[in-house]
Amino acid sequence: MDIVDGLRGTGAVRSFTNDRVDHSTIGRILDLARFAPSGGNRQPWRVAVVEDLNIRDRLGAAMQPVWDEYVAMSALGVTPFSVVPPAPYEMTSTTPGNTPNLMLSEIASIPVVLAVAADLSSIAMMDKDLDRAPITGGASVYPFCWSILLAARAEGLGGVITTFASRAEKITGPLLGLPENHALVATIFLGHPVKQATKLSREPVTSFTTIDRFDGPTFTM
Ligand SMILES: Cc1cc2nc3c(=O)[nH]c(=O)nc-3n(C[C@H](O)[C@H](O)[C@H](O)COP(=O)(O)O)c2cc1C
Repeated sequence: MDIVDGLRGTGAVRSFTNDRVDHSTIGRILDLARFAPSGGNRQPWRVAVVEDLNIRDRLGAAMQPVWDEYVAMSALGVTPFSVVPPAPYEMTSTTPGNTPNLMLSEIASIPVVLAVAADLSSIAMMDKDLDRAPITGGASVYPFCWSILLAARAEGLGGVITTFASRAEKITGPLLGLPENHALVATIFLGHPVKQATKLSREPVTSFTTIDRFDGPTFTM
């Protein structure tokens, strides 16, 4: 696959055919993804290929309330779980409650479920002492997650990165045997796409790029 096509056209895939994905395919995907960059090249990722149906069901059950909360907050126009306090809002009775999510309710039938963890002891969290939530550490593991999606596409597969399980880490961590000082950073679903969206909707460069400073003049191409 051409790298430009990969970058421009690897959309989220959430519906999969029943075709299975064998270990050698998963192995090839991870074998490409491992070339992702990380701070100090410390490669802090760990991957659990979740196959056990009981673990999958319990993972899906732990993620569902997070999804419900996410949808409810989105419906109120709030960025869910933002570390920036939103303007006051109220959960109203019209706020959606239990929202079906086929990836979670049918997690048993998804061809590949990968839980990705990061070893916090190998991550230089450059912004950890600032008066805001740290974010830089994610840069040592999310390129790896994105490379998994790109490598999957090269195999004719599609998938999606999710982070619901992190919010429920008190349940999902022990369920997955998350080691000490590790964070669960993503659950990635993969499979043969029912449909691969390749025309993605993204803001233009000029909407987010300025010269010299973030309050500088708009960058022109
Ligand atoms: C960090 C991260 C977390 C995400 N979490 C979820 C999720 O929990 N559930 C989900 O369905 N999609 C999730 N996505 C997928 C995004 O919704 C998707 O990338 C975005 O809407 C763009 O979709 P498109 O590439 O098909 O245009 C996540 C993506 C990222 C990068």
